[in-house]
Amino acid sequence: MAESKPRRRWGRLVALGITLAVLVPLGYLWVTSLVPGEYNATEMGYADYGGGSTDGHANHGGMNMDMSTSVADLTGPKTGTPDVAVTLTARKQKFQLASGETVDGYTLNGTSPGPLIRAKVGDLVQVTLVNENVPDGATLHWHGIDVPNAEDGVAGVTQDAVPVGGKHVYRFKAEQAGTYWYHSHQVSSDEVKGGLFGPVVIAPQTPGEVVAAIHTFAGKRTINGRTGTQHVDLPAGTAARVRVINTDNAILRVGLLGTPYKVVAVDGKDVHGATPTTAAYPLAAGARVDLEAVVPAGGMRLVAGAATTSLGVGPADGPTAELPGETVDLLTYGTPAPLGFDPAKADRNFEYRIGRRPGFLDGMPGLWWTINGHKFPDVPMYMVAEGDIVRMKISNTSGQAHPMHLHGHHAVVLSRNGVAASGSPWWIDTLEVGNNETYEIAFVADNPGVWMDHCHNLPHASEGLMTHLMYEGVTTPYRVGGKSHNEPE
Ligand code: C2O
Ligand code: CU
Repeated sequence: MAESKPRRRWGRLVALGITLAVLVPLGYLWVTSLVPGEYNATEMGYADYGGGSTDGHANHGGMNMDMSTSVADLTGPKTGTPDVAVTLTARKQKFQLASGETVDGYTLNGTSPGPLIRAKVGDLVQVTLVNENVPDGATLHWHGIDVPNAEDGVAGVTQDAVPVGGKHVYRFKAEQAGTYWYHSHQVSSDEVKGGLFGPVVIAPQTPGEVVAAIHTFAGKRTINGRTGTQHVDLPAGTAARVRVINTDNAILRVGLLGTPYKVVAVDGKDVHGATPTTAAYPLAAGARVDLEAVVPAGGMRLVAGAATTSLGVGPADGPTAELPGETVDLLTYGTPAPLGFDPAKADRNFEYRIGRRPGFLDGMPGLWWTINGHKFPDVPMYMVAEGDIVRMKISNTSGQAHPMHLHGHHAVVLSRNGVAASGSPWWIDTLEVGNNETYEIAFVADNPGVWMDHCHNLPHASEGLMTHLMYEGVTTPYRVGGKSHNEPE
């Protein structure tokens, strides 16, 4: 039975209508998801003032925002002889891990991790980055060190990526004792993974100091660039301080076996009233922890995740065992101490709600991270003025955990899932926010600039889980993308 002509035409129109109804919004979503080939980090997204002043005037005796300030002028000391001067040459190459395996990645002065940079509080540190042949360019970011903004090493925000054959000089005063690390912040999801990083310790070397930078090269977990088990000889009775740095993209349980230990510093800040524990410590990606113990006669062992990657410390290696199931919880660990500011007097109250939804990002269909319901680059820019007390509620319903890292500032944890912190002030620069968790943090906006605030599971940052904390009146002459090919993540 043949359909009549008008009926068929009607059918075609309906089909066309349905197709358009699907394609037009899709096309719209696709087009509006495109990230411009070049953009200014201070002009992306939308300003979120957190309920505070929108006129750019600092009311706390901060810098005068009537005139704008360029990131490029927010440098460390330009004059003065450095106390610590290091040149780091970045290469893309095949190289051998200290334990012998060959890795195709990146080195600094021929090794990965790169050399330890050590300074004392008060030292002027000068690091010259030379890019010998890293094709995408490179930078150095001083993770956890609250340097002046121009020294922060973020390609497209605080500098241009250093091209092959180029160099860049970083100068800053070491002001905070503690354990830190440096890494490239240009195409960081690739370059850091491949080895463009190294440790920084701001403290005089003590006989019991052990630095343990943990990194996974091509699927092989290492401590200081060695796979398997290693040994550091220390006499029994030595007061040991083990500085553990997680340079990977995922959280890692670490801890000492063979003797109770204290968690004496987190992200470079001392813990107040640390007590001995035998539990494991959950070390977020990018975060650091200092573990202290007196070396027992039988030795002790630092375990990084599983006992197959560990470091025996002492006259012997300590027990061969896995870490216990219990976990140190900093929400209650240690004893309270003054914060130095009153979070109840906040000038800004921000929300950083991490979610996920299907859609397009830069024209690519996928399940993308969202911040306050918005996909990159339409995300909130958190606006502050110098001197502001800032509260931020970070919540996560995205289905995965995110180690959230704010540049240029240390924040204190106020609560988790509504439960107030009751232990030592829990200062962080990198905070693991698990799925369905909510943390409230607070900090003082005391370091003018444009500061990244992103997930340190670096592929997530490159997928758009990234925004900025911006001081009103600060501008940047640098551009993401563009002719310098700046691509911070
Ligand atoms: Cu360790 Cu924005 O990075
Ligand atoms: Cu993440």
